[in-house]
Amino acid sequence: MESIITTENLTKIYRGSIKAVDSLTVQIRKGEVYGILGPNGAGKTTFIGMLTTRVTPTSGRATVAGLDILKESLKVRKRIGVVPQDLTTDEDLTGYENLKLVSRFYDITANEANRRIDQLLNMVQLQKHSHRRVKTYSGGMRKRLELIVGLVNDPEILFLDEPTLGLDVNTRMQMWEYIRDLRKRLDVTIILTSHYLEEIDALADRVSIMDNGKILVTDTPSNLKNSMKEDYITITFASPDDLKLGEKFFSNNEKRFSGINTLRVKVPNSDETMPDLINYFSSHSVKITRITIQKPTLDEVFLEYTGRSLRDEERGDARKSMFTIGRLRR
Ligand SMILES: Nc1ncnc2c1ncn2[C@@H]1O[C@H](COP(=O)(O)OP(=O)(O)OP(=O)(O)O)[C@@H](O)[C@H]1O
Ligand SMILES: [Mg+2]
Repeated sequence: MESIITTENLTKIYRGSIKAVDSLTVQIRKGEVYGILGPNGAGKTTFIGMLTTRVTPTSGRATVAGLDILKESLKVRKRIGVVPQDLTTDEDLTGYENLKLVSRFYDITANEANRRIDQLLNMVQLQKHSHRRVKTYSGGMRKRLELIVGLVNDPEILFLDEPTLGLDVNTRMQMWEYIRDLRKRLDVTIILTSHYLEEIDALADRVSIMDNGKILVTDTPSNLKNSMKEDYITITFASPDDLKLGEKFFSNNEKRFSGINTLRVKVPNSDETMPDLINYFSSHSVKITRITIQKPTLDEVFLEYTGRSLRDEERGDARKSMFTIGRLRR
């Protein structure tokens, strides 16, 4: 498959000592949605910063759309769209005025700019709000506007740095729909950073897990999850006798009882276990009332590679500061 971005030992050290990005060598494929999943401070924004020519690498090389990020930075900028982590639109201007302003940075004729702006506003359903000042927009509308600002120059590659940061769950999911839709309609490669597991799972064709400036693994979300080899099957039996009969099936597995007549077992691959299980239960007349299968999530994958749970970090700093206070008291 054709690469649209390649990096070779790309490194950024801030102020002589903070290694934000540590010797990354990656290939991003044309047309894919490439996700970078990592906790706060992992180096995601710095990595994006170098690829979008806003941050100068300390060492290493990279090409974007076949162009060298150092020697051909102006050309790179024309071929890419960037939606930074921080909001960039002007609150005192209307949505339309913001888009128009950006179109003037590029060599786009007024007619062409208007045509594109119309199309983009439509795509994220901001048409009827386009002549309102941005300061009157909701958080979700504002993020939608930021998203299309990155598309005014019809880029080959779109960089989205934490596109749903700070949005509530529903608005976030709505945003995913817009991102999916624009990907379908426009011929664009998307580089997406996030520390939301569900977001990467929902949008990325491939994901790199990043921590402390390093990429620990890159693969499709489903390959990563399947590599975890631990599915949970939870079965509730109709009676204690059924439970006794049923549990014999799992003699070699790790069994855990959870609740009345309920068995929770860890199996390497539930897709393979389930047909045997159903045959066994029916031939031994084991009656069950409920069965659920739980596949590993990206959080288990993250935990496997980093030794930490991203979900714990997602829950925020409140618990962390409680922990610190607890330690100080001791
Ligand atoms: N301009 C800067 N000067 C000095 N250090 C910086 C600068 N920008 C980032 N850093 C440091 O580099 C490391 C990586 O930061 P970066 O913002 O790239 O991470 P991130 O993964 O985007 O984090 P977040 O999820 O919080 O956005 C951090 O330790 C950060 O403090
Ligand atoms: Mg960041």
